[in-house]
Amino acid sequence: MAQLWGGRFTGSINELAWNFNASISFDKRFLEVDVAGSKAHATMLAAKGIITEQEKNQILDGLDSILRDVQAGNLEITTKYEDIHSFLEANLIERVGDAGKKVHTGRSRNDQVALDMRLYARSEVLHMSDLLLNMLKCLSGIMKDNLTTYMPGFTHLQKAQPVTLAHHLGAYFEMFKRDALRMKDIYERMNYCPLGAGALAGTTYPLDREYTSELLGFYGPTLNSMDSVSDRDYLIEFMSALSTIMMHLSRFSEEVIIWNSNEYRFVTIDDAYSTGSSIMPQKKNPDIAELVRGKTGRVYGDLMSLLTTMKGIPLAYNKDMQEDKEAFFDAIDNTSNCLALFTDMLATIKFNKDAMMESAKMGFTNATDAADYLVNKGMPFRDAHSVIGRLVLGCIDKSCAIDDLSLEELKSYSELFEEDIYEAISLETCVNKRITIGGPSPIVMKKVIASNDRFIEEYSIGNDKEE
Ligand code: ARG
Repeated sequence: MAQLWGGRFTGSINELAWNFNASISFDKRFLEVDVAGSKAHATMLAAKGIITEQEKNQILDGLDSILRDVQAGNLEITTKYEDIHSFLEANLIERVGDAGKKVHTGRSRNDQVALDMRLYARSEVLHMSDLLLNMLKCLSGIMKDNLTTYMPGFTHLQKAQPVTLAHHLGAYFEMFKRDALRMKDIYERMNYCPLGAGALAGTTYPLDREYTSELLGFYGPTLNSMDSVSDRDYLIEFMSALSTIMMHLSRFSEEVIIWNSNEYRFVTIDDAYSTGSSIMPQKKNPDIAELVRGKTGRVYGDLMSLLTTMKGIPLAYNKDMQEDKEAFFDAIDNTSNCLALFTDMLATIKFNKDAMMESAKMGFTNATDAADYLVNKGMPFRDAHSVIGRLVLGCIDKSCAIDDLSLEELKSYSELFEEDIYEAISLETCVNKRITIGGPSPIVMKKVIASNDRFIEEYSIGNDKEE
């Protein structure tokens, strides 16, 4: 056990208590960000004359050498240390002696860990927005190729009206677009630097918080030291956004699972993203989509866990907050894996256009248009609705579609039917006539796709604007 404290203790800590308290097994992920934060802090201490230039250089070189050694596998992060901060400081002192003992001047682990978490979360926001953009590009590509791939649109999982695959996937484009915008929004609010808040009340050293904040790429320092060490709102916002991404992925997964079923056959999932059964030789299961759906609950759980942890914590730092990490890392790891994997699966999925078209033709998806046809010929809508209702009943009896009936048969329901009915209720017409913005007609879809492409092109987050 090599802890940073001990002066005021006479006894040593119980072993179970040590293990219970330690966070190094999971906060070792902060190695890089802790080094970056400590380098900025030391650079500022030297600029303010709190340590010498020479001490600063020793600290910077020492930290870099530790980082290199860990990355090269020559130095192990072990449970001998309580957390990553202790590991780094102890190793620094071992390497550079007295200068190393000065790195923590005017700093507490409370602002140190708050900074590490922010730096780590900030880079994950950027990573997540990259993954979302990949998903948007993938969707846009499939949409362009499927402007006239007809399929049934559903309500209540019952066939409702014809749409196209481009239109259906366009709904997911909107969802992931909002997710990408949420990343931008979270970034804007979180990009302030807590370093310099000390344990809770700032410090008496003349720290230059603007300078460290600038060195680390933040918009500026946070404005209340007690809030700085105890704020985890940005993690909650981020995990809420991750939960929403997972909810979108889970709905999409559910559709892929349904579409892949023997009854639908709308899609064929590539072998690379399916698995078989140990007993049933014929099986090819959509396990990836099912697991994405399954992991959604887990990410929601991570969010609930942190919300609940935070609800009773008085100001300022309390050790409960150490519990933010495992939940956050779990949410990040699972959401990024799911998003990347689902995008790859989608990029290789085969859409069985004939099965989709056949399904759209057979489900009376043109019944609304047939009623509208009668309305155009002068019948009031409520009467037309009833005529087509009876007509559908007749078709169900004969197991056929409306357009399979002869004109004579149609006329037995209403004299208003003419030869032009067939053209009026074809899938093409049903889709092409829906030209209001947001509808499935290829004419409007093309405009939407162009605007989607502009979104992808112009999307930028945080500091990339200035680059
Ligand atoms: N491992 C701690 C955490 O994750 C670091 C901060 C410790 N601060 C303290 N006062 N014990 O929250």
